[in-house]
Amino acid sequence: MSSTSYIDVRDVVKVYETATGGVTALRGVSFTVDKGELAVVMGPSGSGKTTLLSIIGGLDRPSAGEVYVDGQPIHKMTSRQLDEFRRRNIGFVFQFLNLIPKLTAYENIYIPMVARGVKDGKKRIEYIADALGIANKLDRLVEELSGGEQQRVAIAAAVAADPPIIIADEPTAELDGETIERIMDFFMELKSGGKTIIIATHDPRVSRKSDKIIVLEDGLVRGVYRGGELTTSEVAVKGYRDYLRRRLMEIDDELRLLGERYKRGELSIDEFHKRYNRLREIKAFLEDELKFG
Ligand SMILES: Nc1ncnc2c1ncn2[C@@H]1O[C@H](COP(=O)(O)OP(=O)(O)O)[C@@H](O)[C@H]1O
Ligand SMILES: [Mg+2]
Repeated sequence: MSSTSYIDVRDVVKVYETATGGVTALRGVSFTVDKGELAVVMGPSGSGKTTLLSIIGGLDRPSAGEVYVDGQPIHKMTSRQLDEFRRRNIGFVFQFLNLIPKLTAYENIYIPMVARGVKDGKKRIEYIADALGIANKLDRLVEELSGGEQQRVAIAAAVAADPPIIIADEPTAELDGETIERIMDFFMELKSGGKTIIIATHDPRVSRKSDKIIVLEDGLVRGVYRGGELTTSEVAVKGYRDYLRRRLMEIDDELRLLGERYKRGELSIDEFHKRYNRLREIKAFLEDELKFG
């Protein structure tokens, strides 16, 4: 069977084989994403977000089910076909950054462009770096940059070669509110240019700007919500609000854990404050979203 949706995920199951037996990460996940859509995947830790993004991007294969991207059945591709598919179609922003620490930011962004044969890269890199607020960091070694700066270099590297699909796994986890706004403006600009973007995130500042929110829970789709639908459909609102409440409880746990780690001397006071403030910031937004969502 073929597909008419741009990205079509059908009954995808993923079982990881481990030494102690199989771990089921996805239990039959289905949804579609249209061309030019910004879709967000939300869900608690361990719900299957990273697994799902890896499968859509052709980095990993489903154990069962079908995945069509631009009409191509990627679940049927050989490894070589998948490599070629990824090179042509996908820009990845990984949670665990796929940057080379001993190279400069510029070099890290340039490499994927060379791989895709993009000419006249300098202007484009400068433009992207400026949009992301890292123009003055381009000649620094990646290992010398802060987590938030590295995260933006990773975004720049993912989009540099102008892939039609951008897949980003928690790309704003290390960023402050102002920078998140900036990154979202950049993603919106890419979207206006016809790119399709899928982002796994916990951050309502990201999901608020999306066309579609896919909420995962324990390897299943708990709901698919349209950005504009959230305030009109009671059912959608309820599911989303449940999700927000659970995430708030998760953040309270994370705050408690952070305090314990600090008391045990596992974190410096600076690191503690940084993480504490970030969690408080997200918590405030979630509470805000619950009030008005
Ligand atoms: N390589 C792996 N081997 C075994 N289990 C895995 C592997 N990757 C993920 N898992 C398990 O699959 C489930 C979903 O994980 P993941 O996709 O990383 O979720 P999320 O990104 O939402 O936190 C979790 O139970 C996780 O422990
Ligand atoms: Mg993940």
